[in-house]
Amino acid sequence: MSLLFEFPRSTLVVTFSVFFLALFPVVALAEATSITVQVDQPGILVAPTLHGLFFEDINYAADGGLYAELVQNRSFEHRDAMYAWTPALRGGAFGMMAVVSDIPLNANNPKFLRFQVFNGANGGVGVVNSGYDGITLRKGENYLFSVYARGHDGKPAGLEIQLEDTNGRTITSEHIANISSGWKKYELTFTSPSDELNARLAVLATETGTTDVDMVSLFPAKTFKGRTNGLRVDIAQTLADMKPGFLRFPGGCVVEGSNYADMYRWKDTIGDVSERKQNWNLWSNDASPQYHQTYGLGFFEYFQFCEDIGAEPLPVLNCGMCCQARGGVHIPLDQLAPYVQDALDLIEFANGPVTSVWGAKRAAMGHPKPFNLKFLGVGNEQWMQEYFDRYDIFYKALKAKNPEITLITTAGPQENDGFFKFAWGKFKSGTPAQIVDEHYYRPPQWFLQFNNRYDNYDRKGPKIFVGEYAAHDYTRRNNLRSAIAEASFATGLWRNADVVVMSSYAPMLSNINHVQWGPDLIWFDNTRVVRTPNYHVQAMLAQNRPDVVVPVQMDAPVVTPAAFTGRIGVGTTFSQAEFKDITVTKDGQTLLKSDFSKNGDGWTARSGTWVVKDGAYLQTTVTGEHCIYAGDPSWSDYTLSLKARKIGGNDGFIINFAVQDGTEMTWRVGVGGGGQDRLEIPGATDPYVPGNVEVGRWHDIRVELKGSTVKCYQDGQFIQEADCKPTRSLYASAGRATKTGEIIVAVTNPTATPQAVRLNLAGVKSTKLTARVTVLTSVSPEDENTFEKPAQVQPVEEAVTSSGPQFERTLPAWSFTVLRIKP
Ligand code: AHR
Repeated sequence: MSLLFEFPRSTLVVTFSVFFLALFPVVALAEATSITVQVDQPGILVAPTLHGLFFEDINYAADGGLYAELVQNRSFEHRDAMYAWTPALRGGAFGMMAVVSDIPLNANNPKFLRFQVFNGANGGVGVVNSGYDGITLRKGENYLFSVYARGHDGKPAGLEIQLEDTNGRTITSEHIANISSGWKKYELTFTSPSDELNARLAVLATETGTTDVDMVSLFPAKTFKGRTNGLRVDIAQTLADMKPGFLRFPGGCVVEGSNYADMYRWKDTIGDVSERKQNWNLWSNDASPQYHQTYGLGFFEYFQFCEDIGAEPLPVLNCGMCCQARGGVHIPLDQLAPYVQDALDLIEFANGPVTSVWGAKRAAMGHPKPFNLKFLGVGNEQWMQEYFDRYDIFYKALKAKNPEITLITTAGPQENDGFFKFAWGKFKSGTPAQIVDEHYYRPPQWFLQFNNRYDNYDRKGPKIFVGEYAAHDYTRRNNLRSAIAEASFATGLWRNADVVVMSSYAPMLSNINHVQWGPDLIWFDNTRVVRTPNYHVQAMLAQNRPDVVVPVQMDAPVVTPAAFTGRIGVGTTFSQAEFKDITVTKDGQTLLKSDFSKNGDGWTARSGTWVVKDGAYLQTTVTGEHCIYAGDPSWSDYTLSLKARKIGGNDGFIINFAVQDGTEMTWRVGVGGGGQDRLEIPGATDPYVPGNVEVGRWHDIRVELKGSTVKCYQDGQFIQEADCKPTRSLYASAGRATKTGEIIVAVTNPTATPQAVRLNLAGVKSTKLTARVTVLTSVSPEDENTFEKPAQVQPVEEAVTSSGPQFERTLPAWSFTVLRIKP
């Protein structure tokens, strides 16, 4: 039975302390939105894994990021063998050097550096490593240096190892003498005498004759939990602080690879670091080209890190398919056996006894105890029958040998496209699926409109892993607006915790100097880590995840969508294309008519390579998305017409409308390799239809706006339409923490207006309640955390007391509030 205590307002005011008044500004009850938490109902169990982390090696997240190694290209296996190394002749020395592969350390590490010293004089013949954007050293801290080296012809060789400051001055050095013939590891410890942000490491051969070096490494002695070959303390601690329920690794597309050669194979990433088979990373863009993966951070280290932070390990394996979005190849079904065996062996590596083949390898790496693996992902963002042919084979083999492992299957890269529907068709017609991995990168408003996404999912169907999600506005910034949208959406995840068992923001890490994808949960450089507003949301969710979710009744006002209003734009998405005859008309009047006879005056390019040519505006950068904009932000109810011609590339056109600062609506024409159109109106229920863009053909495009509806036409044919779904002014969910008995309420205000709420705890009899309240908000929805202002948006915590089972509070505009109430 629900007991709802409502005190007369005067009683409430009298019993509040001054402190309490400050935190819960009293507002007229009539204006307040009532939130009733049914504490007296049994509720649904919440998986401890509901909020976790998605790690991908993108944006230098591993090497040059979480992995603490300070030397870049330590084993000369980079495609450009001397990458990050500069030759150096010191103190009048005379000689030469070359990267060679004659009797290497091992077959996986074929290249090494050979010095020929003709005269070492008072210095040496050597190389200088610039680290990852410089090497950071802290005064008084220890650094562990190691190198494999060998001399030749029975002559003892010598190496001078120097740490240098930005100006090349030696700040400390050590000598390794008597280096014998035959590869051997040599180790030293340096104590840095000064703070250096841009130090270098020099390795100089000092003795006349031949000296070989490989695996030149410098690690801070302090790593997370003191692990050998460990992780950067500040980044790892930021991840640990979130208290994630799981860690998915080693990524999304990076698992798939763009081709056979760069598929991620976990067996390449274990064992001694000198024996790991390194590879290229598929991620690249104009600003940050493809980079090298040393796999120093490999599967053993991921498992160990999971253990160190109390997160369930969730590895995702290649299922015999390369990235379909990149046109990648598939392994023929009759050659899939090694991939299936990889999965079986991984389970043995994680959980098998030390007497098993792979369990013994784990033990040899220093972890005889099993890692207690429970989940395994089969493929990432794969789609259509090609995937299910392979998934079925994996499923049968894995379930036959390891029925205890819960398998995760993919539903493609989008939230509701043809691939997604195909996958769900399979799950509903007999394909066994335990947990389905769904991905969506959508505008902030979408996350509000689809808060109820899982309300009607089949309770008897597979469970859901929201494996990658992030609110993307067109600024692609980690601002408060996107964070509050994600928090609002997460209240829907809590409410549906009987279906949704895992979720993770993506991507997790970005090195500010090597950005291949934004927004990202956490930004870093060599010395600093920034927790974005989105990170704070994930941390608040994970740290306050209830064990049981109870029903909440709320009468939050509906926010009716305003008429689509704003400028227009055209552009390309992973394609080259040109545009002409762009017009905007309204009620028979022409608001804009493009003239590209001479130049592009009046148009602003966001990015890309735009040139005016033969009366059209041409964009030639193939990767990424590039738009030009024109018009007036006050325009509404207009018709945009234009001609567009694809010249090359994978996808098609972008047509923008209702463009404002921070938001825009988009019709994507001929995306997904040209075969799909997507109408990105926040709230479009079914945004995908089949599409067709022909290379070299001028297509007529027309978009008609009326209020908050849009209709799209191509070559005179109606293609698709959508209506903007309304949102709510508040989103809330609540539950209980079993151990402490606390009632946990999460509530967001994603609007620009403060909202008064009255929180009733149905079934609570106590006359005095204490609560810990955490609020994430800021002045503007555009506010973000930067290296200069890392704490502009951060949670503020307070303790409050009430005199009965009811709280009143005004929720700030753009805010996320969590109350932990002790009944
Ligand atoms: O998170 C970045 C990428 O987005 C992932 O690699 C991929 O799974 C998705 O397309």
